[in-house]
Amino acid sequence: MSNWFQEHFSRRKFLGGTGAVAATALLSESARQAEAAEKEPQVRSGEQTIKLKVNGKVHEVKVEPRTTLLDVLRYQLDLTGAKPVSIDGSSGASTVIVDGKPVTASTTLALAVEGKAIQTVESLAGKKLDPVPQCFVEHDAEQCGFCTPGFVVAVRAYLDKNPNATEEMIRNNLNGNICRCGTYVNVLQAAVAVVKGGGNG
Ligand code: FES
Repeated sequence: MSNWFQEHFSRRKFLGGTGAVAATALLSESARQAEAAEKEPQVRSGEQTIKLKVNGKVHEVKVEPRTTLLDVLRYQLDLTGAKPVSIDGSSGASTVIVDGKPVTASTTLALAVEGKAIQTVESLAGKKLDPVPQCFVEHDAEQCGFCTPGFVVAVRAYLDKNPNATEEMIRNNLNGNICRCGTYVNVLQAAVAVVKGGGNG
């Protein structure tokens, strides 16, 4: 081996150089993996305790990933206003408000609403009855009553966003709620009465 080669290409320099390259590659690979792990949705399994904010109060509840919001409301918090009429939510009877939007609690997973503001029909019956249920009473907008909490919440959520809604707008918006007793006309009258300022007496 020539002196020049020994001087410029020693074993130590060679190993040092390849070691640095390998270390850099390893570091960038682990950084890439950490970034990918951050982007992946977190898998949560088994029973766990979470906090749900319902009607302004924070509750600790035990849920599994498959537990619906409706099950938590009815069987852990004893809020039975939302009704288990249809597991696919097609009846609208389990309607509650989550962060200002109406959703069916039967099709909403409890884990999905952790940290959100959940409002049930019970919140409309404080010391003073909310104008929506009040107008439902005044306009006889229920028979068996099974669909009524869902209708009341759906009307409340819609009028919160559209306080001057017309009868047609309300009718179109309530198409996600079904009444087997056929109280639609009275429900509509009740909702229109709220827009006109009824239910505050
Ligand atoms: S009042 Fe009976 S289902 Fe609507």
